[in-house]
Amino acid sequence: MIVLGIETSCDETAAAVVRDDHAVLSDVVRSQDDDHRVYGGVVPEIAARAHISHLDGLIRRAMVEAGVGFDDLDGIAATAGPGLIGGVMVGLTTAKAIAAFHGLPLMAVNHLEGHALSARLSDQVTFPYLLLLISGGHCQLLTVEGVGRFSRLGTTTDDAAGEAFDKTAKLLGLGYPGGPRVEAAAAQGDAARFALPRPLKGRAGCDFSFSGLKTAVRQAAAALDTLTPQDVDDLCAGFQAAVADVLADRTRHAIERFRDRWPEGDTLVVAGGVAANGALRARLAEVAAADGLTLVAPPLGLCTDNAAMIAWAGIERLQQDLTDGLDASPRARWPLDPDAPPVTGAGIKA
Ligand code: KG4
Ligand code: ZN
Repeated sequence: MIVLGIETSCDETAAAVVRDDHAVLSDVVRSQDDDHRVYGGVVPEIAARAHISHLDGLIRRAMVEAGVGFDDLDGIAATAGPGLIGGVMVGLTTAKAIAAFHGLPLMAVNHLEGHALSARLSDQVTFPYLLLLISGGHCQLLTVEGVGRFSRLGTTTDDAAGEAFDKTAKLLGLGYPGGPRVEAAAAQGDAARFALPRPLKGRAGCDFSFSGLKTAVRQAAAALDTLTPQDVDDLCAGFQAAVADVLADRTRHAIERFRDRWPEGDTLVVAGGVAANGALRARLAEVAAADGLTLVAPPLGLCTDNAAMIAWAGIERLQQDLTDGLDASPRARWPLDPDAPPVTGAGIKA
């Protein structure tokens, strides 16, 4: 089974061809970082226009690199949400056109399910597993019980983890995108120099909060006359250590719940762009090992936004006849677990 995947929900335009034996035949990603850098964050209108300009060419490249024609495909998968609605519309509409013209089944994929199932593409992880999804838009702990079957154990009450990295980078003048720059600066810094808070650490449950930590970094920076490179490195190290402590604490609580419900489960998967962070991965590996779980983190290219994970989710859905009609709607919000209790706090992430 061979599926073409399309991803356009944020600031990466991506197309990939994946086969059901886990072979990624092609995986093409065009980052829009240069288009958004001057604004310090993603501008939805610019993103949507860039997707329109580049998607056709990227699909052509993905097909050529995979060495397949449309007749070789068994289906088309596209991200149908959650995300920036203009971009989602571009990708989903393109997928519908290809599906209609070539008479192929369409899979309207939840972007978060793409991240969630990526470890099954790379590492053949079996259900059920515990998932920590940490990206620019999301910060959630979920049990993954099957395709389309998720239970949310916790989510953020305000910023997502990646958003906190990006905002911290911005306020320290490190530029965009922030995560990799904060990680690089933190590697040179002294994490103990600034006393930063660990929001919600030690509290019951598995929810997250990062906005207070970001504010504490801002106040610590404002208290210094001028920011030297060493100050920036130390603030980044302190910030990253605080994020690591919070992720470890919340994940430990989630492991307890996962163990109660699924005693046979033995894997913690970390996915999403923030999972590219080596220090956080190392800390989560310790947390998993302490409870007898194995940490699986997909390779970096599968952690940040990509279309291979969307094609793979499409394969898993097609295998279960979970296809969608050409009337499938793009969705700005689309929670993986619609039955999860609502969170209270400054904002709710889908
Ligand atoms: O999954 P992703 O590519 O896009 C979303 O769906 O959000 O995640 C992007 C996020 C950004 O916030 C970026 O700063 C963060 O992942 N990120 C990192 C690192 N690399 C990317 N955060 C911390 N450390 C990194 N090395
Ligand atoms: Zn993502």
